[in-house]
Amino acid sequence: MEILMITGSPHRDGTSNVLACEFIRGAEEAGHRVYRFDSAFEDVSPCRGCDSCRHHGGKCIYSDSMDKIYDKIILSDMIVFVSPLYYFGLSAQIKTVIDRFYSINYEIMESTKKSALLATAADGNDWTMSALELNYDNIVRYLGFEDCGKILATFCYLKPDILNSNYPNEAYELGKSL
Ligand SMILES: Cc1cc2nc3c(=O)[nH]c(=O)nc-3n(C[C@H](O)[C@H](O)[C@H](O)COP(=O)(O)O)c2cc1C
Repeated sequence: MEILMITGSPHRDGTSNVLACEFIRGAEEAGHRVYRFDSAFEDVSPCRGCDSCRHHGGKCIYSDSMDKIYDKIILSDMIVFVSPLYYFGLSAQIKTVIDRFYSINYEIMESTKKSALLATAADGNDWTMSALELNYDNIVRYLGFEDCGKILATFCYLKPDILNSNYPNEAYELGKSL
C-alpha cells in the first residue's frame, strides 16, 4: 500500500513522533510505503471558505505546501492522522491541512481508502480523547474511509511517558498488521 501520514505536532521529537515512527517501522516491515507530511514544518494556509475551488475544478486559491500532497491524498491507499491532543481536538497544524481537503472532497470520496488515528495526550480521564475520537470517526464516515485502528495514548505528557508505555508497541503492531 501507499500510505500518507500527516502529523500535527510542532515537537519534532515529542510523544506523537514516537507513535509515528513506530507505525512507519511496522508498516515498512510489512512492505508498505509511507510518505510523511509534517504539517507543523510546512507552509499551509487555512481554508478561507471562498469556494473558489468549487468553481475552478478543485483548484485552491493558495499555492503552498498542500501542492506536495494533493495527489497523495487522492491516490494513497491509506491516510494516517497523527496528532497531539490540543484542547480536546486535533492540533491546529493538522486541522489546517484537513480543512484544505475541501477542494478535493469529492475525489477523496470517490477513492477507496483506509485510515488510522494516532494521538497522544497528557491527561487520562475517560473523556480525555472523546471529542477527538468523535471528530475522527465523523471524518472517516464523511469521506468514506475504512478505519484500521486508533491509538489513543493517554497519560503521555512528555516523551519519557510514552517510552514507558505499551503505546509504541501498539503503533508498531498496527503498522505491521496492515
Ligand atoms: C496547546 C496545547 C493544548 C493541549 N491540550 C491538551 C488537552 O486538551 N488534553 C490533554 O490531555 N493534553 C493536552 N495537551 C498536552 C499534549 O497533548 C501532550 O503533551 C502531548 O503529549 C504532546 O504531544 P507532542 O509531544 O507530540 O507534541 C496540550 C498541549 C498543548 C501545547
